[in-house]
Formats: sequence, C-alpha cells, structure tokens
Amino acid sequence: MRNHDLDFLKRFSLIIAALFGVMVVLILAALYFNSRKVVEPNPIAEARTIERIKPLGGVYAGETGAAQAAVAAQAAATAAAAGGAPFGGTTDGSVVYQNLCAACHANGAGGAPAPTAAAWAPRLAQGRDTLIRHSIEGFQGASGFMPARGGNARLTDEQVIAAVDYMMEKYR
Ligand code: HEC
Repeated sequence: MRNHDLDFLKRFSLIIAALFGVMVVLILAALYFNSRKVVEPNPIAEARTIERIKPLGGVYAGETGAAQAAVAAQAAATAAAAGGAPFGGTTDGSVVYQNLCAACHANGAGGAPAPTAAAWAPRLAQGRDTLIRHSIEGFQGASGFMPARGGNARLTDEQVIAAVDYMMEKYR
C-alpha cells in the first residue's frame, strides 16, 4: 500500500468514528427527550376502557373519576335518605296516587269507590284520620278490600298521607 493511501484510510476511519459517536449521542438524546414527552391518552380508548371496567368493579380513577364518584355517592345518599321508599321517596301525593292508588281508584276497580264526589262523600265524612288509618293498615269494607299502603309495603306513612290528602282534595 502506498503511503498516501494509508494516510487516507487513517483520516477516513477517524471521520467515520467521529460520525458514529455523533450518531450515538443523537440516539441517546432522542431517547431522553422522547421519555420526557407527556403522552396524551387517546380519549376514545380511555372512554372504552372506562366503559369496560365500570360494570365490574365500579372503579373510578382520575379527575373525571372523582366527579363520577361524587355523583354516585350523592345518589347513594339520596337513596339512603329516602330509605329505599318507592317513587324516589317523593311526598308529592299526586305522584304516589298516579303510580299506585290510581290503579284501583281512578276507575273503581275491585270495589274501590268510584272517582266521583258523590261516591266519596260518605268516605270523607269519616274524617281524615280514619281514611289515613285505613290506607296505612288496610281496610276490608262492604264493597271490597283496600290493601295496606295500596299494596306497596315500602311506601312511607308520609307518602300514604300525601296520597290520601291528594285524593280527599280530588274527590271533594
Ligand atoms: C288494589 C286496589 C287498590 C289500590 C291499589 C288502592 N286502593 Fe284504596 N281502596 C280500594 C278498595 C277496594 C276500597 C274500598 C274498600 C271498601 O270500602 O270496601 C278502597 C278504599 C280506600 C279509601 C277509603 C277508606 C274508607 O275508610 O272508606 C281510601 C282513603 C283509600 N282507599 C286510599 C288509597 C290510597 C291512598 C292508595 C294508594 C296509596 C290506595 N287507596 C290504593 C282498593 C285499592
């Protein structure tokens, strides 16, 4: 090999080595910066994941999870306060009437007094307390059987009373 060929090879391998070093530094830098990048979660994938784990454990995680957990706790507290009473524990007499009492009382089914003032006049004459007592305890009359709490034992006294008040006003 001639002398200047050797010279060339030396410089050439030096340059290659230097370039290789630069490459390694760039790779390391790229890895470092990539690891520092904040990865935005894919919202669609995230929603799917939440959907998948929800029925299993009712797991709530993260910021949106905290809000969901608060809503769930609120709903549980409301249900507990209502004592599991039907119709969301409402004491709106018209709601209780429409959902339960009306089954018999809107049409006089099973011997219930007809929904008229005339049919109700003798009932109202017995007084509010008697009507409430008969509604809560149940009542076997001459024309038929009035089930206790309209047949829904979970109905609270307040709900029955509200329904009786609503009916007394309606059929007056
Ligand atoms: C399954 C049918 C049925 C349902 C449901 C029902 N009732 Fe009655 N109710 C009757 C019948 C039948 C009578 C009449 C009994 C009789 O006098 O022979 C009656 C009578 C009454 C009376 C008059 C009682 C009296 O002393 O004269 C009141 C008040 C009354 N119901 C309230 C309610 C309320 C409030 C609800 C809902 C919470 C309700 N009922 C749901 C069948 C029903």
